[in-house]
Amino acid sequence: MARLRTGVLISGRGSNLQALIDACAARNFPAEIVLVISNRADAQGLERAARARIPTRIIAHRDFADRDAFDAALDRALRDASVELVCLAGFMRVLGAAFVAAWRDRMINIHPSLLPEFPGLDTHARALAAGVKRHGCTVHFVRHEVDSGPIVVQASVPVLPGDDAATLAARVLAVEHKCYPLALRLIAEGRVRVLSDGVEIDGQPGPARLDAAA
Ligand code: GRF
Repeated sequence: MARLRTGVLISGRGSNLQALIDACAARNFPAEIVLVISNRADAQGLERAARARIPTRIIAHRDFADRDAFDAALDRALRDASVELVCLAGFMRVLGAAFVAAWRDRMINIHPSLLPEFPGLDTHARALAAGVKRHGCTVHFVRHEVDSGPIVVQASVPVLPGDDAATLAARVLAVEHKCYPLALRLIAEGRVRVLSDGVEIDGQPGPARLDAAA
């Protein structure tokens, strides 16, 4: 069976990219990463892609006059590589409405909170300040409003006494690395149907959940 041609957009460390690379290395995994794009030349994730012999492109937002021109360059690179699904993995640029519309239901993102709680930045510190008992991550289809869209997979972890933002982030990151490959697999296997405000997986209401024990 043909594997889903996946493009990954990064800006930095690339540990979620690595989780996707590792998943795709399995012979029977239903997706392959055909292109990694970074908007930063110094992104550590570029080395991870190169080690896995995945083609990389650096498309630096600073090289373009405006967001539309940057988005158009991304779009062209993805289409040139016949990408079918885009995974945002720590990609720190907001994409414009036209790009988001062009890739509607073909672009997913991973966010380090249990959306709709804590969209935006500094999610771990904000979760601690709010005193939540559980925190986690979300893989969702991308819509124009940042950190919104039908949720495919969510995983929660306990917030433990003595946590600071770094310890909590590390606990969440460990489940991010399980959630993103699971979401990619479910989509690549054609098991996810996107509805207006959520998804069905195998005909059942989603999202899929990977909750770590308390
Ligand atoms: C992750 O926490 C992800 O949820 C968020 O940005 C971070 C990227 O980390 N969107 P990495 O580059 O995948 O290591």
